[in-house]
Amino acid sequence: MLLNGPNLNLLGRRQPEVYGTDTLADVEKLCAEVAARHGATVDARQSNHEGELVDWIHEARERHAGIVINPAAYSHTSVALLDALATCDALPVVEVHISNIHRREAFRHHSYVSGVADAVIAGCGIQGYGFAVERVCRLLAERG
Ligand code: DQA
Repeated sequence: MLLNGPNLNLLGRRQPEVYGTDTLADVEKLCAEVAARHGATVDARQSNHEGELVDWIHEARERHAGIVINPAAYSHTSVALLDALATCDALPVVEVHISNIHRREAFRHHSYVSGVADAVIAGCGIQGYGFAVERVCRLLAERG
């Protein structure tokens, strides 16, 4: 499952100097292409609502093989997402940030999600999503 958090529906139009001009549709296409190379498919979803993301993580826990998540602003605030992801210990979880959050404002330096993610990718632009899908597929192969 590919999860994108708040404001990422505006990708391409939102602060292009920070997040680039590629759209969420471009991200979802990239992830589908990378997954297809590994014989996998992607269920892509975006929400501006924390609880909806929590519900989708619960769904992924039951029905999906792994999670790629850009929690966006909720990275820095959400114990609820942390707790939901902590229940997914059987699934590879990779956190993605388009921008390098460590080179930005101090409040973006900490992510609650990172503590439960298998890997964190930041500052690679939308290419980072492709790396994340690669990583999930590799972890799944390694775990049999
Ligand atoms: C982001 C970084 C967050 O700090 C920000 O709130 C976002 C996007 C990124 O992809 O770089 O919305 O997660």
